[in-house]
Amino acid sequence: MDYIVEAKKLAKSYGDFRALKGISFAIPQGECFGFLGHNGAGKSTTMRMIYGLSVVEEGELSVMGERIMHLTPPHIKQIFGIVPQEDNLDLELTVIENLEVYGSYFGMSSKEAIKRGQELLEFMGLTDKMNVNVDMLSGGGKRRLVIARALINDPKIIILDEPTTGLDPQARRQVWQKLRKLKEDGVTMLLTTHYMEEAAQLCDRLVIMNDGEILAEGSPEELVEEYILPFVIEVRISIDMLPPQINEKIEAMGARGEYMVDSLFIFTKDSREIWDKLDEIGLSQRDCYLRPATLEDVFLKLTGEREEA
Ligand SMILES: Nc1ncnc2c1ncn2[C@@H]1O[C@H](COP(=O)(O)OP(=O)(O)OP(=O)(O)O)[C@@H](O)[C@H]1O
Ligand SMILES: [Mg+2]
Repeated sequence: MDYIVEAKKLAKSYGDFRALKGISFAIPQGECFGFLGHNGAGKSTTMRMIYGLSVVEEGELSVMGERIMHLTPPHIKQIFGIVPQEDNLDLELTVIENLEVYGSYFGMSSKEAIKRGQELLEFMGLTDKMNVNVDMLSGGGKRRLVIARALINDPKIIILDEPTTGLDPQARRQVWQKLRKLKEDGVTMLLTTHYMEEAAQLCDRLVIMNDGEILAEGSPEELVEEYILPFVIEVRISIDMLPPQINEKIEAMGARGEYMVDSLFIFTKDSREIWDKLDEIGLSQRDCYLRPATLEDVFLKLTGEREEA
């Protein structure tokens, strides 16, 4: 089998609304593959079809080499670990009881599930919460429990729909470490996130989606290389206060100006060249910020400005 998950022109409509407009991607075993995109881009729609909560109607989807004709069948679902976007824990049960019940869906005895559950709570740093009712956990605690729960069956593929939304920066980094560890063990990961750094840290490859379509695909480094230059100067003054003919002046210096979310960004190959000559184009270093370009810049460039929600 070449790919563990493969989609060809996969599409989805809700009534007249085309949420996915025919997307294609292929994920080899052991890869962490990311889906980035604005709210409503179609990321969760794609995930739900893969993990069998939503029917495949148009285009092709294969998982583990098997073509999904309608809903992902149970023998494939068994190898998934799923972290849905919305926490769907049983709030009335304790932390360990949640894992015990979940383990029973995979045919585990109570004893087995509790043993495995304890290991996972340790892994996710939740051991001291074992006997606490889930509704007493913080948002971040609940999220970590959902991740622990997804691992109960030793999944070959983990689907992580915004796994670290709501976590504080330390907790987020702890989750990244855990996910890296799973990846080292050969687990394939499908990850959606709004955190560009998360994608850059974890994903081998990713797609940037917009309104049900894929705009770009590649490794984080490839995308930065292909779509932007390695350094960016963010100009922190409003666009209507910029000096006249600034774009022409930037281009004459061999750099590229882009307007992103109400600001001018100057992309440049060299970190100092333009920075040291900002006064020649009517700008001052005080109003500007020089930094390496990131995946977030690619994202902003490709997905453009949005209407205010
Ligand atoms: N069951 C549904 N019925 C009707 N429309 C739906 C349904 N589920 C999703 N949609 C619509 O499909 C589009 C894609 O939704 P989806 O949840 O896949 O977006 P997303 O990329 O996961 O966004 P977010 O980042 O906000 O989670 C949205 O416009 C959404 O409103
Ligand atoms: Mg979503």
